[in-house]
This record gives sequence, C-alpha cells and structure tokens, in this order.
Amino acid sequence: MLKRILLLAAACVTAALLPAKDILVNTPKTTLLLKADRGQPLHISYYGERIDNAGQVYSAGSLWYEAYPAFGTCGTDVPALSVRHADGNMTTELEYVSDTAVAEANATLYTITMKDQAYDFYVDVCYRAYSNADVIEAWTVLRNGEKKPVVLNKYASGFLPIRQDDVWVTHMHGEWAAEAEVTEQKLHPGIFEVHDVTGTRNAYKNRPNIMLSLDGKPQENSGRAIGAVLCWNGNYRITVDTNGKRAHTLVAGIDDAQSAYTLAKGASFTTPTLALAYSNEGIGGVSRSYHRWARLNNKIHNGTALRKTLLNSWEGVYFNVNEQNMTSLMDGVKAVGAELFVMDDGWFGDKYPRNNGSTSLGDWVTDRNKLPGGIPALERACAERGLKWGIWIEPEMTNTKSELYEKHPDWVICPPTRTPRPGRGGTQLCLDLSNPEVQNFVFGVVDRIMQETPNTYYIKWDYNYEIANYGSHYLTADRQSHLYVDFHLGLQKVLERIRQKYPDLVLQCCSSGGGRVNYGLMPYFDEFWVSDNTDAKQRLFIQWGTSMFFPANAMAQHVSASPNHQTGRRIPLKFRFDVAMSGRLGMEMKPSDLSEKELAFAQNAFRLYKDTLRTLVQLGDQYRLISPYEGTGYASQMFVNEAKSRAVFFAYRFETAVNMARPRFRFAGLKPDATYRLKQVNGNGRKNSWEGKTLTGRFLMQQGIEISLSGEYDSCVILLEE
Ligand code: GLA
Repeated sequence: MLKRILLLAAACVTAALLPAKDILVNTPKTTLLLKADRGQPLHISYYGERIDNAGQVYSAGSLWYEAYPAFGTCGTDVPALSVRHADGNMTTELEYVSDTAVAEANATLYTITMKDQAYDFYVDVCYRAYSNADVIEAWTVLRNGEKKPVVLNKYASGFLPIRQDDVWVTHMHGEWAAEAEVTEQKLHPGIFEVHDVTGTRNAYKNRPNIMLSLDGKPQENSGRAIGAVLCWNGNYRITVDTNGKRAHTLVAGIDDAQSAYTLAKGASFTTPTLALAYSNEGIGGVSRSYHRWARLNNKIHNGTALRKTLLNSWEGVYFNVNEQNMTSLMDGVKAVGAELFVMDDGWFGDKYPRNNGSTSLGDWVTDRNKLPGGIPALERACAERGLKWGIWIEPEMTNTKSELYEKHPDWVICPPTRTPRPGRGGTQLCLDLSNPEVQNFVFGVVDRIMQETPNTYYIKWDYNYEIANYGSHYLTADRQSHLYVDFHLGLQKVLERIRQKYPDLVLQCCSSGGGRVNYGLMPYFDEFWVSDNTDAKQRLFIQWGTSMFFPANAMAQHVSASPNHQTGRRIPLKFRFDVAMSGRLGMEMKPSDLSEKELAFAQNAFRLYKDTLRTLVQLGDQYRLISPYEGTGYASQMFVNEAKSRAVFFAYRFETAVNMARPRFRFAGLKPDATYRLKQVNGNGRKNSWEGKTLTGRFLMQQGIEISLSGEYDSCVILLEE
C-alpha cells in the first residue's frame, strides 16, 4: 500500500512538472497537431496542410477534441474506447502521462501514453508519420495493468475531428462481380456508417476506406480531402457523426458487435492501423498519397517491384484441368508474349477429385488422373517455354466432401452444438484460423508446394466464403467473442511465417474477385484479383473505384473472351486490352481462340506493355480525369512518371448515341512549361491531328486535345514524352 502511495505521489510530481506540449505530427505536406497536457486527455486541434508552428492554429481558433475519446467521460457521442474494468466499472477517464518520438527509416513514430485516473489501465496512442508519403497511421495499444481481466467492448483504431460545413463522403459498395461501386453523398446531421459483418472478407460489400471532401462535392484534382483507410481484413465499422452544427467526427476500427475482447491481467491489445491522408489536390491527391505510401512502405508486398504479365487458366478451361489443356495454354502464353502461366482451380483431390466447386478443398494433393506427371512436370513444361509457373489454392477452406473434413470436422468455424451451414457447392466451410493447429495446416499448404516445386513463382490465394456459423471449437466458452478478431490474428501469423520463409514468392489475394481488397492483407500480397467480372465495360467502373485507394501495380486486370462470360457483351480486343493495360496486364482465356489478326494484335500489346507502358502504369502517379460515372459515355485517366517527363494517357468511349457530345480530353500532372510529343500506341490505324506533334504541358492541361473515338468501345492510348 505504502509503495503504491509513493508511486502515485511520484507520478503526480512528474505530471505537475510537465509543461503542456504541442506535438506536430508532420509528413512532407500535412500536419496533425496534438496537445498533451497534465491531468488532461490528449487532444487533437488540427489536421490539414503542413504547418510548422502550432501558434497560428490556436490564434486562428482551433478544434478541441480528445484524440481517443473513452466512454463515460468524454464529450463525444461516439467514443473510440469502451472498457469494463476489473471491478465492473464501465467508464474510463484518461490522462496524459508521457510521450516519445522515435525516428525510423522513412517515418517518425509518436507514442503518447495515457492512463486511467483511477485504474491501472493504459492507452498508448500511436501515430506514424511518413517522410516519403503524406500518410499518417494511427493505432492504439491497450494495456491492462489491473489485478483481474478487463473487457474491451469497443476498441477503435483512431478518432479524427473534421470540423467543416459542407463535407461529402465517397465510399465504395459492391457485390460479387460488381465491386467498388463509387458512391458520393453529402453528410447531413446524424450518423453515416460503413461496416462489414462477413467476418472473413471485408471488402466484398462495403470497403473499409472512405474519403471526405471538405469543400463540397468531391473533385478529382482540386479541393481539400481526407482519406481514412482501415488496415484490417475482419469486421470493421467506420462512423462519421455529424452534429447539428455540421461538425463531423470520424471513428474507425474493428466492429464492436459480437466482439467483446477480454484482456487478461498484464496483457495488451494492439488495434489495427487507421491510415489517414490529407490533400488539397482533391480525392485524386489522396489516392496518389495512398498509392505512394503503399508502394514505398510495403503496404503492398514488394511494393516497388514490377509485376509480370500472365495468363490464368480459369476462364479458359474452368475445372477442365489436365496436362493437355495446361500445356496448350502454356503454348498460348508463349505465343502472345506473356511471362507467367497460372493454373487455377481443379488440379487437386485424391479420394474426391475436384471437378466442380463442391468437393476437395483441404486435400491439396495432385489429382494424378488429370496430371500424371504431377506439378513438377508442369513447372518444367513452363520452364521449357521460358515461362514462370504459378498455381491456385484456397488454403483456409474445406468442403464437407473432403478427406480433411472427414479427419478434422472440428477445424471448421461452427459452434460445437450446431450443424455447419455450407456455402459454395452446398459443401464449402471456413477453417477456424484461431486454432494454432489450423494455422500450421494452412502454412503447410504453401510450404509443401514450395518444397515440392521450389521454382513456383506465383500463388493465387483464394477465399470464397464467409462466417455463416459463428462459433469456434477451439476457443474456450468465455473467449467465443474473440473469434472475429482471433481468426485474423491467426491468419496474420500464417502470412508472417510464409513471408519470412518465402519473401520472393508472388502472392495474389483473391476472394471471389475483390472480396479481400484491403490493407490488412496487402502487406503480405503482391497484388489482388480486382473482380471475377472481366467485362471491359464494367471493369472500367470497378477499376475506377478500386484505384481510389490501391495502386495500379496491385490491380490484376485480365483480357478475356468475347462474348464475355459474365455479361455476354461483345467488345473488340483493342478495347479489352486498353482497359486491362491500366493495371497489371494479364489474360484469362484460350489464346488459341484468337484469330491470326487478333493474335498479332495481342503480341504487339504485350510487347508494348512490357517494354514501354509497364513502368509508367505500375509505378507512375495516377490521375483520374473523366469518370465513367459522369454519364458522358467516356472515361479517361493517365499515369505520369516521377520526373514528369513521360506519361501514358487512356481514353475510352463505352456508349454511343447519334450526335453524342464529345468531351475535350484534358491532361493532368505534367510540367506546365515542358513540351511533350504525343504518340498514339496500341492504335488501330486511325490518325489524329496531334500525332507526333509537341504541345506544352500547360496547353495539354488547360485546353486539352480532341480525340476522335467512333462508336461504342473505341479507345485510344497516348504516350507522352518530354
Ligand atoms: C473464385 C475466383 C476465381 C476462380 C474461382 C475458382 O471465384 O475469384 O478467379 O479462381 O474461384 O474456383
């Protein structure tokens, strides 16, 4: 007791000596201003354009919100934290204790520690401010120093006040094969929320990222905007609370529904990261900050590496995997000039061969009837053609018709007292990644492939279901509410192990298309499958929305057959290529179905992409120009290199009507005083007046050019060189 009193007295003396302190969390162009004061919780007073002197913020009149409001004592309606302490008290009252700033390679890490005034419960509020991108990551570490367990009822990653009047929100909603539909709306008093409750693939419907435009309706390349990205693959909730005075506050983190998390005495919990970006170059500026942050700081794995072109077998042969079909596709890959062949679903299963979606997941053994030479023979066949080899797996799943399920029925997500409710094929079930044995199994799937075929270059990692049977055989009765969180912590452990052992393996993140497009998983994956919908017209929209937060080198975009398998639409090959070339180019069809003329076109397109466009598209700054959502029937975008000396511009016309208005195509991101030579590439022979001419960056950006695009599904790709 005496020791405790002495310690308390010492803490009070230290706190009394501490002066109030401004903490400027700076990136090259932005600042988050914090105020740390004795006896007070940490406050946020500004987030926006970079400032180097806190004084002017206070002179001008500033925000005054707690940086991490806690239930029971904070003034805000939507708290970030809610804790049941060991004695049953539901309230938390935090006060500043100390702070540190640690320089890292490309960032500074700020840690501000607060403590509950009455309990040994600590909150470290952390901010990592990057020096190579205008992004600030926010998260917290919650530490239980109390004598008994405490329960975290809500444990958001971060809180941000946005005190502006006319604020609009941009978010992405989706469905299977219709991902990332962009929705914009003005914020009115009340609650705006996006959340996901699928449990295992949180980008399938609402995406865990939003943008807030502070100067009215969102503009691509002007106006102030703030982005908020939750780096997590599980259930989440992003809430914007707008009060009667039109002041908006943002809280984002793991969804608290059915997720009370017990922290044992002495234990801590680190929340996922909330990545914030501010720009005065509109939502396009926010996008470019995220793209840069992701590439330069491995928020997508191996972020600055150029991605190889490939052909994936799925839409070419579906489940009809056999040696002949595979080698014939490999011949096709070689013929068009792509670099990698990926064998999709249908290659595995012994007792239960995988001929459709209803069996075999979990039985990761080669089906020797289909592939007598096994996987090594296929890898060799690729090597003989000068191609890299890749393979599809869905390692976190099983089917009730599988040897794995027969052996380990308790490995699936389901309460022990209930019968599982299956998904795809009427038999598919999710494995319970909170269970360390399951984690070992999933790691083993990749490890065995790499042992047996060490030259495997690429793995497509799929995930085609969600939690429909909440409950775990593994978690104890008092920890059942940990499942939504522990599943992902388990998955992260597996992916960490894979990355430690196989840092160079290229991994694609797929989940019925773009169901897991989030920055919780992308640090482990090199790219993601944007959508199961490969229709070039609908892809314009899906890719547009996806690019709001993700860079082009992470976006797998494949040219597929016409008529398209999802929509039945017929679209010329050039248009299909021009749409796919604005990301990581690939194919998803039988090249042997191409006519001689089409094959020659495809060969030229792959050559052009590899030799000239790949670096610009995959590593350049992206400027979205005419949105397909504007309803003009046109879309355009461009990619500019860092020196602004080279760029590639894409224009698409995807609708037609008699006497339809044609937009003037204006550029962005160029040097105003430089002159650029314009050259149409991947063309179809039609000439424009600007071909081979030089124009200034200023003219191109202010006046723009005319492009004659005739009829539906005409497109134009222009290379600009200083
Ligand atoms: C999912 C994927 C597809 C394909 C199939 C295979 O739907 O999104 O690309 O891999 O599974 O079953």
